[in-house]
Amino acid sequence: MQGIGSDDHVKGVDNGQMALQGKKIVLGITGSIAAYKAVELVRALTKAGANVRVVMTASAQRFVTPLTLATLSRQAVLTDQSAWEAQMPHLTAARKTNLLLVAPATAGRIAKFAHGLADDLLSTLFLACTRPVVLAPAMDAEMYRHPVVQDNLARLRSWGVRIVGPATGELASGVWGPGRLAEIGEIVQTVTEILCPQRDLSREVVLVTAGPTREPLDPVRYLSTRASGKMGYALAEEAVARGARTILISGPSALAPPYGVEFMEVETALQMRAVVLDRLTEATVIIKAAAVSDYRPAHQAESKLAKCDAPLMLELAPNPDILREIGAQKGARIVVGFAAETGDLVLRAHHKLMAKHLDLIVANDVTQEGAGFACETNQVVIIDPHGGAEELPLLPKRQVARRILDRVVSLRQQKNRV
Ligand code: PMT
Repeated sequence: MQGIGSDDHVKGVDNGQMALQGKKIVLGITGSIAAYKAVELVRALTKAGANVRVVMTASAQRFVTPLTLATLSRQAVLTDQSAWEAQMPHLTAARKTNLLLVAPATAGRIAKFAHGLADDLLSTLFLACTRPVVLAPAMDAEMYRHPVVQDNLARLRSWGVRIVGPATGELASGVWGPGRLAEIGEIVQTVTEILCPQRDLSREVVLVTAGPTREPLDPVRYLSTRASGKMGYALAEEAVARGARTILISGPSALAPPYGVEFMEVETALQMRAVVLDRLTEATVIIKAAAVSDYRPAHQAESKLAKCDAPLMLELAPNPDILREIGAQKGARIVVGFAAETGDLVLRAHHKLMAKHLDLIVANDVTQEGAGFACETNQVVIIDPHGGAEELPLLPKRQVARRILDRVVSLRQQKNRV
């Protein structure tokens, strides 16, 4: 963890923007090793202009002291102990806040909330709170995967509680998996979206493609790309949050479709082409984040190809370039492509942009750590037809999506002025 005196420790937060000015947030901190990250979170929220009232459970205080949080939030921290010294502090705090955020939220705390156990200040406050509630879970991967935790989260979601994360990565136990507290930037962004919704895409129908395509060779094997769908799903989620009717056309992915999208699943490039062209007339913005296979096996065997000792020659047929077809008939639509490159990033991406008649192309060097396929973050250059190249820092994919859609909004404004 970097020193809290530096500003760049809050990865991906738009520092300097007082997006939460005047908003009151109750931040519940529970007893997870990730409680130390709440220090960064308080700093990021206050920097964004929020008035943060911290509530700490007894176990959270074993990981980080109330004094640290009181100093950063510039007000006394509420604890079970201090609750006995005030009159109905849970009701007062619940009524005064605009939003209740619990980060980190342990498996035990999630269970308490899901079942209405009200035996300490934070759990009574949760029941008394009629404002939006956001939870950022943090726990070990096996605990997170346990069906009872998943059921509890689903129950909370069904009541409108917003769950951010968890992220996947190395956990305190040394295990790799889901369970890390979401990035601070992602938590602040979620809070900002809820308290200050941006509706600048409410007139648009955004069609996003995501994930890989699979090109069957026989009933058990296929050719594919390494895409997980994370970049495209983040774009769809951001488009929904900003008011767009959003159509997400996805190749095979393990991700759950974001809330509020019209979701269509495809397998092959030919299927993706058919569905995209079918929905084309509705779309006013098209963003092609999918990593479509450029080739498919020319012949698909009806039964499993038998192993033999001789080399096997595969004949591949080129797949149609869906984006090129869209670019050729784009009309008033805004069309954004992606370019996954392993060298000469800007040059090659610019060539694709011109060849496919795009408004923007988002170039990512997929050899860079933290960029491209399957990771939570991406580092991209947004290139326009006039040679402009906006280089973004390494950001969570959701924040990359936000910056791309910011460019779409300003393009629409420019187009409307002409
Ligand atoms: O899904 P993730 O794991 O989050 O990974 C994200 C990503 C790396 C897949 C994404 O950021 C990305 O770079 N997507 C585009 C990958 C790609 O196929 O690049 P390309 O340079 O081969 O294709 C250029 C553009 O043409 C892309 O917009 C692609 O969707 C489109 N295309 C390509 C081939 C084809 N037959 N039809 C197409 O429409």
